[in-house]
Amino acid sequence: MTVILDGKKLRDKIFEDLKVKVANMSVKPSLAVILAGDDPSSKIYVNNKKKCAEKLGINSIIINYPSTVTENELLEKIQELNNDKNINAILVQLPLPVHIDKFKIIDAITPEKDVDGLTTYNSGKLFSGEKPYVYPCTPKGILLLLDEYGIEIEGKHAVVIGRSNLVGKPVAQMLLNKNATVTQCHSKTKNLSDITKTADILISAVGKKVVGENMLKSNCVVIDVGIFRDENGNLSGDVDFETVSKTASYITPVPGGVGPMTIASLMLNTVKLTEACR
Ligand code: GUN
Repeated sequence: MTVILDGKKLRDKIFEDLKVKVANMSVKPSLAVILAGDDPSSKIYVNNKKKCAEKLGINSIIINYPSTVTENELLEKIQELNNDKNINAILVQLPLPVHIDKFKIIDAITPEKDVDGLTTYNSGKLFSGEKPYVYPCTPKGILLLLDEYGIEIEGKHAVVIGRSNLVGKPVAQMLLNKNATVTQCHSKTKNLSDITKTADILISAVGKKVVGENMLKSNCVVIDVGIFRDENGNLSGDVDFETVSKTASYITPVPGGVGPMTIASLMLNTVKLTEACR
């Protein structure tokens, strides 16, 4: 029988615990989110983050900039937030407008307030097998979900499709740090299904329908990070749920799988950074 990995249910459980924890903290956690430009999905994500934070008693501010914002304006704001004792966590929503060097902007965040775990310092710690201040939100959410359902990682063949800095690379590294054998696939990978057929755990994070029928062995654990609108305007993931769910042992739905876990991890990270500050 296929088990649905219910990200909403686990998120709600994490939120219940966090609400109590935050209520008992002497310092109210504060998250600052920088949103530059007018990408409609980013606006929805950022507002959602604020709503969730407020539900948990976490302060949250959104700092909006037009798509014409300069690198210097962003760098100055980040410096101000780095020095602000009332801000514990900083997130720069991606993507940034194309004329902005995202690496320069992200690296301006002090690692102690880098709630996404994306700075060179924190990703360097992750990639050297040391502990960063926090782990990137989506990969952390995926590992929490696997753990919640008692899915073992050690010794398993994990295939990751996608190599973004936000998801593909860090999740592959986190699985490797937990002693999985990891294969990373991407847009130039040849014979993708020959590789996916050997996966015990498959994670797809590309934003395109890339995993279909007959691409996986029976009882594979399937994690679908993709979420996009298909040609008919319907929300879709990277995985053809209809066919793949017939043979998978565990599978995340879209929506309701990885998405809620990303938000849960963001809130966990905000609280963690606040606790480390004191
Ligand atoms: N854009 C889409 N997902 C994310 C995320 O997890 N963090 C940031 N900073 N931007 C994103």
